[in-house]
Amino acid sequence: DCCTPIKKLCWWHGVGSTADFQKIIQERCDTYTQTIRPGSRSRNCQAIRQAFMSTFISKDPCKATKEDYNSLINLAPPTVPCGQQVFWSKTKELAHEYVKRQRLMTLEDTLLGYLADGLSWCGEPGSSDLNIWSCPDWRKDCRTNYLSVFWEVLSERFAESACSTVRVVLNGSLENAFDSMSIFGRVEAPNLRPQVELEAWLVHDTGKPPSDSCSGSSIRKLKSILDGRNVKFRCMDNLSRDQFLQRS
Ligand code: APR
Repeated sequence: DCCTPIKKLCWWHGVGSTADFQKIIQERCDTYTQTIRPGSRSRNCQAIRQAFMSTFISKDPCKATKEDYNSLINLAPPTVPCGQQVFWSKTKELAHEYVKRQRLMTLEDTLLGYLADGLSWCGEPGSSDLNIWSCPDWRKDCRTNYLSVFWEVLSERFAESACSTVRVVLNGSLENAFDSMSIFGRVEAPNLRPQVELEAWLVHDTGKPPSDSCSGSSIRKLKSILDGRNVKFRCMDNLSRDQFLQRS
């Protein structure tokens, strides 16, 4: 049983809620709205923190729905100016390094993505506290946990809002640079609007040969998902990490 009561708390297989979750959300929100994007100063961080908490506190941590996050996301939709959007899959650190050098933005450069980046959270029925001991694991406990559903619904909204040319940084050191089961593959690519153009960059570890290319089967699969949606596609491969970052 995945939910053996220990100290009256359920014992899940995933890491527990981040210590000081509320405080971190409030502090990151203040930093983002005052320093990182002062244009967003009008956003009310106390309301955002409260809306975030009420999505999951006192609820069954395996029964998250997209709708649970509607009011939070409506307070701060993850939209980005046209042509500045960058997706990533298995390249988180590289993609963030890349956007820092350009006027580009990943999901973690939007307010909600910035607030939640790297954090974990879940509650439990009958308690107003976060479960700091453990949270459900996607594989071992349930897919409909609050953390997974958050990134899925936020990513869906991020992709739906894409316009003009957008980019995805893929890991050319993997046999399959495009993973149709990843959030980019399952949620973002299938939600791009017609007429958007996606540029894929396959970047491999410097000093090693690439393991996948634009003509490989994984990228052909990506192309077929996009063809079905009338999304234009361009693909650049055989770039080492250093080459990629230097040309940016
Ligand atoms: N912090 C912690 N976990 C995250 C974050 C984050 N900022 N973003 C995503 N996650 C979780 C998701 O559950 C995701 O499946 O970590 C996993 C990262 O897995 P990868 O296979 O590397 O990438 P992918 O699944 O494609 O997700 C990344 O989704 O979040 C969006 O816009 C983002 O394009 C990016 C893609």
